[in-house]
Amino acid sequence: MIKVLFVCLGNICRSPLAEAIFDQKIKNLGISTYLKSDSAGTSDFHIGELPDERTIKCAQAHSIPVNHRGRQVNRTDFRDFDYIIAMDDSNLRNLNNLKVRYGFPEKEIFLMRDFAMGEQGLSVPDPYYGGEDGFLEIYRILDDAIDHFLNKVKENHQIYA
Ligand code: 4NP
Repeated sequence: MIKVLFVCLGNICRSPLAEAIFDQKIKNLGISTYLKSDSAGTSDFHIGELPDERTIKCAQAHSIPVNHRGRQVNRTDFRDFDYIIAMDDSNLRNLNNLKVRYGFPEKEIFLMRDFAMGEQGLSVPDPYYGGEDGFLEIYRILDDAIDHFLNKVKENHQIYA
């Protein structure tokens, strides 16, 4: 089983949406037996909470179920997940500090948009303080980046489904 963890700050907007989009895609591709996803936040702001209502609304508008409760990244995540994917620079920096502190200095942490063509180094923008249009924008960004990520995973692990 290949394990993928999507990480943002609060774990109520970007990463639960990424997880939901990813799950829908692997289901549609018929490869969900090979892959497992989860999401987490670098902060402890929203532990135990459902995703932001704008996240849920955006997912519903795209007919994607969201089923997650906020949780914070922990030590075992660095051991257990094959791919840990940060939504922005700040999440990436925090994860790169945490991995050292937790004893996994060699663990590679990925940036979500690095998988998308011509989007290297760009962030999935934090939509928390904006309006609903920000959620449509991150949906579009994630949908594309996750397609590219999945192509990479299929290639890396020789999944031909
Ligand atoms: P997320 O968005 O990191 O995409 O879940 C945020 C959610 C909450 C906060 C910031 C960003 N907050 O400051 O509470």
